[in-house]
Amino acid sequence: RKDISLRGLRIMITAGPTREALDPVRYISNHSSGKMGYSIAQAASLRGALVTLISGPVNLPKPEGVEMISVVSALEMYQAVHQKIEEQDIFIGTAAVADYRMQEVNAQKIKKKKEQVTLALTLVQNPDIIHSVAQLKKRPYVVGFAAETQEVAKYAQDKLKRKDLDMICANDVSDVEIGFNSDNNQLLILTKGGIEVTLKDSKIELAHTLLTMIKNELKLSQ
Ligand code: PMT
Repeated sequence: RKDISLRGLRIMITAGPTREALDPVRYISNHSSGKMGYSIAQAASLRGALVTLISGPVNLPKPEGVEMISVVSALEMYQAVHQKIEEQDIFIGTAAVADYRMQEVNAQKIKKKKEQVTLALTLVQNPDIIHSVAQLKKRPYVVGFAAETQEVAKYAQDKLKRKDLDMICANDVSDVEIGFNSDNNQLLILTKGGIEVTLKDSKIELAHTLLTMIKNELKLSQ
């Protein structure tokens, strides 16, 4: 299964969280460690793919043989993706991109005022990176991820359609042994034509399984 070559395929992967600044010292983010996306990047590179990894801030070493672009915010990730997306055969969005950012980032540190017991922040929506890729005229094969805490299959199906994806991998992030930050995961993989559930496994093994599935889907559509 791992022997199936990906030689010559150009694959772009987003990974990790994004950070949305509130002021010069604070930000909004999430618990993504980058492990899922980095595992896919490493597995794809080992099998001969030309990998571009666009990564939010994480504490992982760069996988060997991979071109990496480091970004911080969702807007930066959007720009980095669109700079090289035209050249790609496959796009895989594992990043946990912040849905919202500050309408205006405070230029100075927000000061606590003793009499002010609540603080309201005005946030605006970030662009949906994967949806923008799926809308391109010359689009790559687009694979999304979905972090869900309930009704995993239903929400994943909904995202597959709404974001116009070719495939979506859903993980149940309410289970602490899988999903965010753990070394293992379990995926519910949906395509327009079918559904498959993987066993619970290490993220690197799942990366290989997923890449083989994508390669098969590409062959079918050719
Ligand atoms: O990094 P790890 O600790 O290994 O954890 C892995 C993971 C749980 C983060 C990963 O497996 C995962 O599920 N990633 C998607 C997380 C997520 O928040 O999904 P979402 O439901 O918000 O978004 C759905 C899809 O749209 C994703 O492919 C996401 O990358 C993409 N998206 C979302 C918002 C946005 N503004 N732009 C996007 O491209």
